[in-house]
Parts: sequence; structure tokens; C-alpha cells
Amino acid sequence: MVNNELSKFKPAKPFLKWAGGKTQLIFQLESRLPDYVLDSKVIERYVEPFVGGGAIFFFLKSNYLVKNSFLLDVNPELIMAYKVIQKDHLKISSLLNEIEYEHLQKSEDSRKRNYYFIRDAYNEQLAQIDYDVYNEQWIQRAAYLIFLNKTCYNGLFRLNRNGKFNVPFGRYRNPSICDEVNIKLVHQALKNTKLLCADFSRAGEFIEKDSLVYLDPPYRPLSSTSYFTNYSRQGFDEQDQIKLAQFFKKMDKKGSHLILSNSDPKNRDPNDDFFDRLYSGYKIERVPAKRNINANPNKRGPINELIVRNY
Ligand SMILES: C[S@@+](CC[C@H](N)C(=O)[O-])C[C@H]1O[C@@H](n2cnc3c(N)ncnc32)[C@H](O)[C@@H]1O
Repeated sequence: MVNNELSKFKPAKPFLKWAGGKTQLIFQLESRLPDYVLDSKVIERYVEPFVGGGAIFFFLKSNYLVKNSFLLDVNPELIMAYKVIQKDHLKISSLLNEIEYEHLQKSEDSRKRNYYFIRDAYNEQLAQIDYDVYNEQWIQRAAYLIFLNKTCYNGLFRLNRNGKFNVPFGRYRNPSICDEVNIKLVHQALKNTKLLCADFSRAGEFIEKDSLVYLDPPYRPLSSTSYFTNYSRQGFDEQDQIKLAQFFKKMDKKGSHLILSNSDPKNRDPNDDFFDRLYSGYKIERVPAKRNINANPNKRGPINELIVRNY
């Protein structure tokens, strides 16, 4: 059973390409949902403290009746874009249509100039943005973010130390910048959804007995050169992984159903039992997964992902 007419025909999908996106892992995760969810197809309360591109959220919204959702992420640009689509999807669609129309008319060289022009405008906006109060400027900024995400090299969202977007231009023959239908589906999927730009620990305010909680934190880097954790200015180090494990235990005591994914350090070092120790006493499984976002194509290959559950 689904929430609305449109999604009977087409499911909503992530509107941004996001590093660590979980599209590859959807069925591994779905088969591990609690039995009562699989049987009833109903999720009363869903909480996702590291929502990113939201691959799992959109999948669940299209295939289950998800009554109330709470999505958090520490990245203010990402949450801004979600809120704009939640509130003003028609305005952002029309802005993106204009941007797309103008961009695709240009030659390759002028597209490149246009990309850097918009990237500069996006970075200059940073100083004047009020992240706390919803305003018209958010609509343009969210449209720029989507444009940059669809046209940048490798589809990565990466900020430098000053919070500036610094990914170079990517060469795409026909980038789809405005997917109007999906923006509408995303808008519909975001009904009955609370969005919050905050640290994962704030998710505790929304987690109750029987809530379903999916946790997909930034990976513990597989290699010292991997920049998987650079989603925002703040990194996510081993101390954060330890705090997250403590949070997991606390939420377990509340009686919620927790499912967490992470990189498996045993891919690199079979003796690395960091997560086995952190989550000892819980159900830990290793499943094959393919990582897409890697600047070096030679390093893209099959590796295991960890799935931890408290049920
Ligand atoms: C692996 S990604 C999630 C990917 C998501 N499952 C998807 O399918 O796109 C991790 C996310 O955690 C966010 N993040 C990093 N540190 C955080 C923190 N302390 N609290 C909440 N979110 C955080 C990042 O901005 C990023 O979007």
C-alpha cells in the first residue's frame, strides 16, 4: 500500500547523487526489516539520522505505508534542499527548468564557463545565507546545489575547509538537471516528514519504543586516502563511531528497532575487529556491496558491507 496516486506508477528516488548512497544495498536491507514490518507493510514511525540522498527512505515510502518520518543530517545544504522540495517544489522545478534550458543550449566550452559561474555564485552566497529561517534565497540555493550535483565531476558533493563547493566541471553529454516528475514524487514522499539539520544524537528526541531506525553513518575510511567522510566540513572519526555505538545501545534500551550499515574494515585487514567489538552482543552480518563513488575506477570493486541489528 502506498501513500498517493502518483507513486503507484513511479517510485520517488533520490534527487541528488550522494556519496555512500545505498541504492546498491536496498534489497539486502529490506530482507532484514523486522518481521512485523514485512508482514504488515506498515511503518508507524521511521527515523533516519544520517539521511544523505535518502535511497532507503524513498524506497520505503514507495513500498510501505510509512506514517511518520524523521530525517536528520548534519549537512545544512542537504537539509535545505529537502525542505525546499517539501515546501516549494513547483518553484524549484521551474527554476531548474530555466537553468537546464539555458545550460543545454550552450556549447561544451560555454557549459563549462556556466558551471564555474554558478559554482562561484553558490560559494559567494554562503556569506549571506540564513540557515535558520526558511526564505526565498533557499530556493535558488537548492536549485544551484542540484545543478552542481548533476553537472560536476563524478557527482560528488564535497566542501573544502572553508565550506566552499570545489568539485570541478564534469563532462556529460546530456545531463538531466530538472527531473520534474521525480521532484514532485519527492515532494509527496516528504509529507508527514520532519527534517532536521542536526547531529545524529538529536534523533534520540524522535525515537520511541517500536520506532524503526536506519543508521548509515559516514564510513570509517577504507584507506588513508579515501575521502568518504568529507560530506561536510565536519569529519566523522573513530570517536564519532564510538559515540554512535553508545547511542545505538541507548536507543536499543528504548525498545526501538535499529538497523545500521557501515564499511567492513575486514575488507582491508581481516584482523580489524573495530566494529565487532563496538557492536558485540548485536547481530552483525557481512554482505557483498559495490561502492560507486571512487575517483579511481580501479578501486571500484566488490567489497563487504556490515549490517548490524538489535533484533
Ligand atoms: C553514508 S552517508 C548516508 C547515505 C544515505 N544512506 C544515502 O543512501 O544516500 C552519511 C551521511 O551522514 C551525514 N553526517 C555526517 N556526520 C553526521 C553527524 N554527526 N550527524 C548526522 N549526520 C551526519 C553526512 O552529511 C552524510 O549525508
